[in-house]
Amino acid sequence: MYHEISEKEHDMLSQLQSESGIMQMKSFPHHGDITVFDHSLNVTMTSLRIAKRLSLSEEKRENIIVGAMLHDFFLYDWHEGRIRKDGIHCWLHPKVALKNADERFELNSKQKNIIRSHMFPATLLHPPTCSEAWIVSLADKICAVKEYFMKTAA
Ligand SMILES: [Fe+2]
Ligand SMILES: [Fe+2]
Repeated sequence: MYHEISEKEHDMLSQLQSESGIMQMKSFPHHGDITVFDHSLNVTMTSLRIAKRLSLSEEKRENIIVGAMLHDFFLYDWHEGRIRKDGIHCWLHPKVALKNADERFELNSKQKNIIRSHMFPATLLHPPTCSEAWIVSLADKICAVKEYFMKTAA
C-alpha cells in the first residue's frame, strides 16, 4: 500500500510506527482480529487517498499522517468495559488519545483537532475545524465499517 505515498511520507510513517507508544497499539484488539495499530494505519492510508483526490498540500498530508496514526491512541482494551468509571468509551477515548499523544509528541493545533474531533458528531462539542480533521473523521467511519463487517483492511 505504501506505493501510494511519497518517500518523505513513508519515512515519516516509519518513524511514527517505530515509537514504542505506537507499537503498544499492536497489543490492543479493535474490530475482530484487527488491532488498534492496524486500524490506525488503515485510517491513515484511507485519509491520504481522500487527500490525494482533493489535491491537498504536502503540509496537510503530513498533518493527516500524524493525526490519523494517533487518533485512537487511548492505549487500553476497550472491550474490557465500554463504560469505564470515568465515562463511556465512545465519547471519552478522543480526549484520552489526545492527552496521551500530547504527552509523547509535539503536535500542532490541526493534529490535535484531528484526534479530538474524529468521533464527530458523537462528540458534538468538538467538531472538526480543518479539512484534515474532516477527512480523518470520514476515513475512520469508512474503515470501522469495513473492518467490522468485512474483517478486512480498507
Ligand atoms: Fe476512535
Ligand atoms: Fe478509529
